[in-house]
Amino acid sequence: MERETAPRQAPADTPEVVVTWPDYDLDDLELGGALQAAGCRVRLEPKRGARSPADLARLLGGAAAAIVSTDPFNREVIEAVPDLRVIARVGVGFDSIDISAATEAGIVVTITPGANESTVADHTVAMALSLLRRLGDQDTAIRAGEWRRTGKDLAGTLSGATVGLIGYGHIGQLVAERLRPFGAEIVAYDPHARGDDDVTLVELDELLRRSQVVSVHCPLLPETRGLIGAEELALMQPDAILLNTARGEIVDEAALISALRKGELRGAGLDVFEQEPPASDSPLRELPNVLLSPHNAGLSQHSVAEMTRRATSSVIDVLGGRVPADVANEAVISTLGLETASA
Ligand SMILES: NC(=O)c1ccc[n+]([C@@H]2O[C@H](COP(=O)([O-])OP(=O)(O)OC[C@H]3O[C@@H](n4cnc5c(N)ncnc54)[C@H](O)[C@@H]3O)[C@@H](O)[C@H]2O)c1
Repeated sequence: MERETAPRQAPADTPEVVVTWPDYDLDDLELGGALQAAGCRVRLEPKRGARSPADLARLLGGAAAAIVSTDPFNREVIEAVPDLRVIARVGVGFDSIDISAATEAGIVVTITPGANESTVADHTVAMALSLLRRLGDQDTAIRAGEWRRTGKDLAGTLSGATVGLIGYGHIGQLVAERLRPFGAEIVAYDPHARGDDDVTLVELDELLRRSQVVSVHCPLLPETRGLIGAEELALMQPDAILLNTARGEIVDEAALISALRKGELRGAGLDVFEQEPPASDSPLRELPNVLLSPHNAGLSQHSVAEMTRRATSSVIDVLGGRVPADVANEAVISTLGLETASA
């Protein structure tokens, strides 16, 4: 049952906005300028690597608002910051925020949907093509003085390949849209999707057996944590590749490393990891058939500018007593007495 929540009052002094999203431009009039014009003090605490909940709670101090990426807002952190009224998540995946705890505490959580999905779709296709065409291996071989044009490890193509999408939401659909002109057959597993004329919805086992490219695009939820484990990887074809641009914890990393070592998969493209950044001795850093990127599939000049602008507007709206766009925990709104924004 939802707990009755008292509206949080802004601190008597100027509200402080803590920004952990890196590279926030305080001099940009649409960003820092807009926050300052709205009467806020801004403190930059960029998150550039792992950050513990205890560290996060400490640096938030008396903040009234936070503009964040993947910082761990668990219940303890939320309860340690009593003045906090809004967490503006730059991006769409809010698995790093305990939504129930935020709602109970009267904190509005906002996201920025629609701003980075096409960037993630581009990144996914880039990874698929690079791994299928073995671009990384060939580049390394030539730099080492080799010149191998033929052999048993000939590169594959998207043309004629079956691509299996796990999750057929915004990003999954954009990936499908990009892959069809290559002549790929698209199948998808998504227990909540209706499908369309261009995709065949199948069960997960069938998708794993049929696909030469398997790409993960579902959110991290209790039921998707470890969705792709040893059993699922064993169903994949030995020349198939696995792509994960969703969340690291959806794929059992130890099982993936073992499958890659045994040659049960051709390769993997990973933008996200169980631990970010992966440990310095993670085998993923050594395996040759793996393509890695630093959780930046959704980042481009355009997407970053758009997501940052929207997160900033959300903070200004909530601190100004208005309902912001794209609230992740709608249940909190009725408890706060915010005005509906006119724009
Ligand atoms: N790497 C990055 O930089 C980056 C950027 C943006 C998003 N993401 C991740 O991508 C995910 C997907 O984003 P989106 O915008 O497409 O979200 P979305 O909500 O539009 O789509 C997610 C889809 O997953 C489906 N789904 C839910 N449970 C499932 C399950 N058990 N099995 C299979 N499918 C299931 C949903 O029905 C939905 O259709 C986000 O949740 C986020 O974690 C990563």
